[in-house]
Amino acid sequence: MTMTRSVVLGCGSYLPEKVLTNAELAAKVDTSDEWIVQRTGIRERHIAAEGEFTSHLAIKAAQAALADAGVDAQSIDLIVLATSTPDNTFPASAVAVQNGLGINHGAAFDLQAVCSGFVFALATADSLLRSGNFRRALVIGAETFSRILDWSDRGTCVLFGDGAGAIVLDAQQQPGAPSDRGVLTTHLRSDGRHKAKLFVDGGPSSTQTVGHLRMEGREVFKHAVGMITDVIVDAFNATGTSAEDVDWFIPHQANKRIIDASAHKLHIAPQKVVLTVDRHGNTSAASIPLALCTAVADGRVKRGDLLLLEAMGGGFTWGSALVRW
Ligand code: UT7
Repeated sequence: MTMTRSVVLGCGSYLPEKVLTNAELAAKVDTSDEWIVQRTGIRERHIAAEGEFTSHLAIKAAQAALADAGVDAQSIDLIVLATSTPDNTFPASAVAVQNGLGINHGAAFDLQAVCSGFVFALATADSLLRSGNFRRALVIGAETFSRILDWSDRGTCVLFGDGAGAIVLDAQQQPGAPSDRGVLTTHLRSDGRHKAKLFVDGGPSSTQTVGHLRMEGREVFKHAVGMITDVIVDAFNATGTSAEDVDWFIPHQANKRIIDASAHKLHIAPQKVVLTVDRHGNTSAASIPLALCTAVADGRVKRGDLLLLEAMGGGFTWGSALVRW
């Protein structure tokens, strides 16, 4: 029996021009290129220019995704923007993106699940498309974490970067088979008991300030691999697939050691892992679509490939998705 699937028509990304290297950071705080590369795999990250907001990055990524998909912006009736660094407390940065793209029909909203934001946004858009209420969606992850970093805290300021990535999802009838194109399954989880391990120490209701990112890195690290692998096993069980069926593992890019350990635990071959953390740092909700677009642009990801996406971050939140390209 046929069923509605959210099929990916195209993807696009945008990185701010300015590149900040580990050597430049070592001139500001007590760190070294060697420590950062060894502990995280990060070599450089991009930083948004003054006056360049999250919505500006998101619009550029969305325009690139629309061009890659070969569809007109007017065909989009849903925009879900995953971000924890919106332009303003409100309105949602998604409406700035909608306006910037010249769209004034349909719905646009932000979704906040920190580093898991893109997987949460993908699952949300997929549900809304499959419900029949929307036809074509832009799912975007865009962040300017450089704006919420404490640049004197070496434990966090070396880890994050700015950027945006987007995909176009189209509601299409598919045969209802494992070989279907599109989003095959999504799995989302949260556990607020861990909310103080990775948080921003400000906000409109608590301090009336924006605040800075605070993290107990070792604590986050301790939980990451277990949470990531649990939710990926859920995705395998829901679809009757296994690590061998995965063509490309496109994880949230926080730390190469977490990615390597997760792939190892799941028996995913290292050559199937898409890694961009070395050049982008941790771009939170933008990291998965940025990595995805990199692997699409360089020809690794091909039509029919099975992609495994996963993320884990503040909350804690974590999630997985299996998508056939
Ligand atoms: O995307 C959302 C999810 N976030 C994550 O997944 C991040 C998870 N955590 C991590 O990636 C790692 O825990 C970090 C990269 C943040 C830290 O690596 P670690 O191996 O867990 O190091 P640590 O926190 O245990 O710190 C080891 C040492 C400490 O010194 P002492 O106490 O051993 O003397 C730190 O003070 O490294 C020190 N340190 C640094 N040294 C040089 C911490 N940051 C730096 C730094 N440069 N930038």
